[in-house]
Amino acid sequence: MSRVRRGRRASIALLLLCALVSMLLTACQGVRKEEEKTSIRIGISLYRGDDTFINNIRSIIEEKAKEYERESGIKVTLDIQDAKGSQNTQNNQVERFISLGCDVLCINPVDRMDTSLIIDRAMTAGVPVVFFNRQPVEEDMNRWDKLYYIGVDAKETAVLQGEMVVDLYRKEPEAVDINGDGVVSYVMLEGESSHQDSLIRTEWSVQTLKDGKVPIEKITGGIANWERSQASALMEQWLADYPDTIELVISNNDDMALGAIDALERADVMGVNVIGIDGTTPGLEALESGKLLGTVSANKELYGSAIVELAASCALQEELPSEYPLTDDTYFWTPQEILVTKIKENP
Ligand code: GAL
Repeated sequence: MSRVRRGRRASIALLLLCALVSMLLTACQGVRKEEEKTSIRIGISLYRGDDTFINNIRSIIEEKAKEYERESGIKVTLDIQDAKGSQNTQNNQVERFISLGCDVLCINPVDRMDTSLIIDRAMTAGVPVVFFNRQPVEEDMNRWDKLYYIGVDAKETAVLQGEMVVDLYRKEPEAVDINGDGVVSYVMLEGESSHQDSLIRTEWSVQTLKDGKVPIEKITGGIANWERSQASALMEQWLADYPDTIELVISNNDDMALGAIDALERADVMGVNVIGIDGTTPGLEALESGKLLGTVSANKELYGSAIVELAASCALQEELPSEYPLTDDTYFWTPQEILVTKIKENP
């Protein structure tokens, strides 16, 4: 072998050795850095800060972060921003979180179909993302193994919502078929059309009523975008268009159910059953006072703590907490329950 070739081989070996030593040094520094981490910064962006359910979740996240801090001794800084319904604003918030050195992002996307920019930025910066409540499309979620989603299973919610009426109908048919004509006439209030929950909730609550042999008939329905005032306006119109007809209001969430109740009260109409979803604070008050027949509530304590604990372990590069089992290593589905007023105990 020529001397030149031997010399070249020796320098390649030397280069490889240097690269190996530098890799080992970087890895060791990384471990030391992780060992020293005593504080984490979480960037949170909400699709709309004035959404009642999201506000409830926000309060629980704040509470759970304090609890985590007390128990772990790790300082948690939450930077919570309101995207006010603008995807552009949310994208800028993500930029800012990353430039401020956030260790992890918790994002409630404005447009669940348009999370690719957020994911691009997070991947480039190596910052994991915990999405919640508005589920990004699967194709986006599959782009990186540091993307997570926390929410509720929409079909399960809807089936539970339908079941509460089926149960009541079996026990007291006259409490559901109020005018006793053998048909339960209902109206449907739907959330945002682009939201994964709206379509599925609408379809499966009705299907569950049919499967449970409740004789239903749809009078009309409309989109009120989760909002109390929009639902109230729709209901006011329907009460005028179909006087003495509506027996049941099925609403995709509590706020719209409360809007329907506002309209019923304004029109002085009594006895119509209204059902919602969320178990928000005002929703539970209406349940307590008997204005709302029932609601389906996610375990919000668990919802909030899953967000905080998952985010914290991502930030600390620790193993993910086993109390929150992830489907496909990505999704945490929060358990839900039915809360009702009218079903009588021991019939
Ligand atoms: C739904 C919830 C609605 C609204 C919406 C926002 O899951 O039921 O009330 O908060 O999320 O994305």
